[in-house]
Amino acid sequence: MIPNQWYAVLSSSEVRRGRPVGAVRFGRRLVFWRDEEDNVACLDGTCCHRGADLAAGRVEGGHVHCPFHGLRYAADGRVVAIPANGLEAEVPENFRVRPWLAVDAFGFIWVFYGKPADAPDDLPMFEEFRGDFPYAERYEVWDVHYSRAIENQLDVIHLPFVHPNTIGRGHKTLVNGPVTEWDDETLTFYVKNEPDCGQTPQTADEIENWWELNSLQYRVPNLWQNRIADDLRVMAAFAPVDDERTKIYLRLYQRMVKAPVLRGLVCAAGNVANGVILHQDRRVVLTQRPKKTELQMGENLLRGDKPVLEFRSRREELKKAAERR
Ligand code: FES
Ligand SMILES: [Fe+2]
Repeated sequence: MIPNQWYAVLSSSEVRRGRPVGAVRFGRRLVFWRDEEDNVACLDGTCCHRGADLAAGRVEGGHVHCPFHGLRYAADGRVVAIPANGLEAEVPENFRVRPWLAVDAFGFIWVFYGKPADAPDDLPMFEEFRGDFPYAERYEVWDVHYSRAIENQLDVIHLPFVHPNTIGRGHKTLVNGPVTEWDDETLTFYVKNEPDCGQTPQTADEIENWWELNSLQYRVPNLWQNRIADDLRVMAAFAPVDDERTKIYLRLYQRMVKAPVLRGLVCAAGNVANGVILHQDRRVVLTQRPKKTELQMGENLLRGDKPVLEFRSRREELKKAAERR
């Protein structure tokens, strides 16, 4: 995990009012619920009394109640009442679980992985998806660490091999560049793959007008998008479940079609096609070993792996910076 980051961890629609929701994220069992103002709360989900899952409990008065002996938890992680001791009895200090900073925005539930006092106000959502940009969403769990799942989306070499009948049509096996650039915490990379006619691949420096090429972006720590056109984007959030699992939230954003019913249909149909492409990836990515990547891990990278290397390097830098604090 890259520390001190806001992670998109759930879709907003997964946390409804009136009942708690459990999810494993960052390798921990968490519980989420909405208070009476619809604000999202998130705690470690294991009761501090005798270990029951708070997500199996209920929500009442803005608190989550443990299903076993009814301990009531506030959003700050403290137990506010122990029914067996009498609802008016004082609650000892040690009756608490770890609270997590959580907010609901742009259709995601975001959790800050780090000390709450260090959390920036701004969330790492791509600018263009902060306003009115309709989308359809689907999600699925892959049995790999989120680093493998993200790197697959940064991989420009695999296209003709994994997607020969979809986005990798045309047998463009020769990889020029790719050109990569960082802007703050966003990595943009430009794809110029070609059929191999015996030519030598161009280095990034040799590619002219690279800014006109199709570009994709990774945003630290766990977002990615393919900028197909101004009004058509594929976007994904890679929610870290644990070292061997990632929940991928895949969205198709489009605003070419404006009529509401048609717009919904276009989003939904587009996202079904995205699902087909994602499953082409899944078939191979699930076979990669180890399931988690590091900057130094004995793999033999190619020049075309530059976006993957950029991701690994940045992740390492941010981890080191967090250790120094
Ligand atoms: S285990 Fe939660 S109240 Fe007893
Ligand atoms: Fe792919």
